[in-house]
Amino acid sequence: MARKRASRPRPKTGRALFKGKDWITTEEWADAEIETLLDVAGDLKRKFRAGKPHRHLPDQTIFLMFFDKSTRTRNSFEAGATQLGAHAHFLTADAMQVSHGESPKDTGVILSRYGHAIAIRHDLIPGEGNRYMREVAKWADVPVINMQCDVDHPCQTLADLMTIREKLGRDLRGKKLAVSWAYAPSYAKPLSVPQGLIMLMPRFGMDVVLAHPPEYFLMPETLEAARRNARRAGTTFEVVNDMDAAFEGADVVIPKSWGCLETMGARPEESLRIAKQYTGWICDAPRLGRAKRGALYMHPLPADRGNEVTDEVIDGPQSVVYDEAENRLHTAKAIMALTMADKPVEYRTA
Ligand code: CP
Repeated sequence: MARKRASRPRPKTGRALFKGKDWITTEEWADAEIETLLDVAGDLKRKFRAGKPHRHLPDQTIFLMFFDKSTRTRNSFEAGATQLGAHAHFLTADAMQVSHGESPKDTGVILSRYGHAIAIRHDLIPGEGNRYMREVAKWADVPVINMQCDVDHPCQTLADLMTIREKLGRDLRGKKLAVSWAYAPSYAKPLSVPQGLIMLMPRFGMDVVLAHPPEYFLMPETLEAARRNARRAGTTFEVVNDMDAAFEGADVVIPKSWGCLETMGARPEESLRIAKQYTGWICDAPRLGRAKRGALYMHPLPADRGNEVTDEVIDGPQSVVYDEAENRLHTAKAIMALTMADKPVEYRTA
């Protein structure tokens, strides 16, 4: 008797456009819209690798406004804009009139008149970044893109979802993701990556466990969104205070540091002082061994090597951090193309 072959989804073609739609949190994008973003990102990745032009944004301008430092986000947006035929202006808040108190309304209206999108990173002060970009978006008549705020880092989590699917397949039902706090002495990192992960991944089939020491709890509204999304999707979300327990049987682990919500803005050094109690929260080989054999190790980067993770793990065979970082380019391009283009973006899936 002929053996049944596992069926692979057939390639499909599509046309899509979300012109003018803000990309501020994944919560405001329907599952189907996120699927389209991923399909377009995959198509742009193949075209980039094949050297095929994909100039969806000829003669357009995007303003990149940074209140914090960046390597991946800045360069994925700048390179991506160029590859799409657009130009990106790199702006730092300290060199803009916002540092003298210019309002988000005035900034949003003026930049809208000069170009086609405004992207903002404002991630270090709980209660400020997301509010700031929503105020810009209220007055801007071009799309506003969140390059990381205090609540979400949707560009990172979209790239993470793309990477996990590339490695584990499109159907993630029953796969366990461990999102864990890890020790880092470098700086009090934003909370938005773990918050973004717990909100997005349960929607796409993953059972998510969040682990952190008691002081490093996340914003209550993001925990509530994670629970609600898991309930709707028939997946699970739980919180533990034990990194080992979170790693047990996981298919994917994302251990990274973040600051204390209560002191992050005014006294970030307090987060680092408290963190010294938890230097044992490191992703090393024995701990990764608690996860499933071959489980993926991921980190949005920059990583504190020797503190958040050992070199053995981040440079080891289970680490996919460079593929994950590369996907920041392709997903950033999908976000820009779909929210900024003048005509629908045509794409083909693999
Ligand atoms: N992951 C990430 O956002 O990297 P950057 O801070 O370098 O942009």
